[in-house]
Amino acid sequence: MKNLALLISPRAKGAYFNDIIEVATAELTWIMGADQAVTYKKIGPMEFLEVEADKALLPTLARLSFVYGIFEYQNEQLTPLPVEANFNLHEDFVFGAKFKGKTNELLTQLLLNVGLKSIEYRKISDVKLLDPMCGRATTLLWGMRYGMKAKGIEQDAKALADIRLNVKKWSKIHRQKHQFSDGFVGGKSTKGNKGKFIEFSAADTSMRVITGDSATACSLLKDEKFHLIVSDLPYGIQHFTTDKTRNPIAVLRACATDWCDSLKPEGVMVLAFNRNIPRRKDLLAVFTEQGLEALDFTAPHQMSESIVRDIVVLKKTIDHL
Ligand SMILES: C[S@@+](CC[C@H](N)C(=O)[O-])C[C@H]1O[C@@H](n2cnc3c(N)ncnc32)[C@H](O)[C@@H]1O
Repeated sequence: MKNLALLISPRAKGAYFNDIIEVATAELTWIMGADQAVTYKKIGPMEFLEVEADKALLPTLARLSFVYGIFEYQNEQLTPLPVEANFNLHEDFVFGAKFKGKTNELLTQLLLNVGLKSIEYRKISDVKLLDPMCGRATTLLWGMRYGMKAKGIEQDAKALADIRLNVKKWSKIHRQKHQFSDGFVGGKSTKGNKGKFIEFSAADTSMRVITGDSATACSLLKDEKFHLIVSDLPYGIQHFTTDKTRNPIAVLRACATDWCDSLKPEGVMVLAFNRNIPRRKDLLAVFTEQGLEALDFTAPHQMSESIVRDIVVLKKTIDHL
């Protein structure tokens, strides 16, 4: 076992604001298990979370959303360890584009880390990821960086062109070999471009973004099943839901059956939302009523006067099927 100090990245403070320590502790505790002590330490302006961990866990710790660097205590001195996160693709694919309504990149990374810890898989390249409200593909591009196969659904038909431009730009700048394909689910073009998709493949991974209403996810995805559903839900402020109400609960109710059907047995759903609207218990109820089991993860953080972002994790446990 190693005595480690994980240096908190300044970038994470911009993601989790004043609640950075609590959110970082929640992410680390989820990965390590609740029985593993996590302590906070400040040295000058540098803030750390200290934990004891096995050497084999170092690459996983390097992928945590708040981690800037990993140090080991050796004779009471902190020694930096040369551990890399080893992601695919340049980080610009995820961090490069800035657009209205973009989900914070580190929050998205945390959602994936929490989800991956909650499922069983042999190789990460086996893991299928779905973001059923994917916007301009922040989650899906992160999924590709992790090496997963990613798919997303977005109601805004303009998203496909924006995603293509963004990904083309970074592929050119970073000389990333890639392929694009596009088409319609079912082969035929449709009114309002429903079912229109683009697929981007690079570095042995791929993502597909499909235009359409997530309430029809099963048909848009041809009943494909996923290990992980990860999404940042509409906040009702910048992101209107389909029926233009501020509370996304109605649209989630419309989507719940198809989302649950799209999960594999033992698959996990990780959702970020504004817990002022809907309330956490109301959001959980939408999915527990469909038979999912709520897991004990929470990481509330105040983003603005009207938004306290939180996270729920739900599992399709075999007992609940
Ligand atoms: C918070 S944003 C997600 C942003 C995304 N993670 C990103 O970084 O680009 C929520 C998205 O849900 C989409 N959305 C809302 N209702 C939907 C529905 N019924 N079907 C598909 N997409 C929907 C909105 O258009 C919006 O892009």
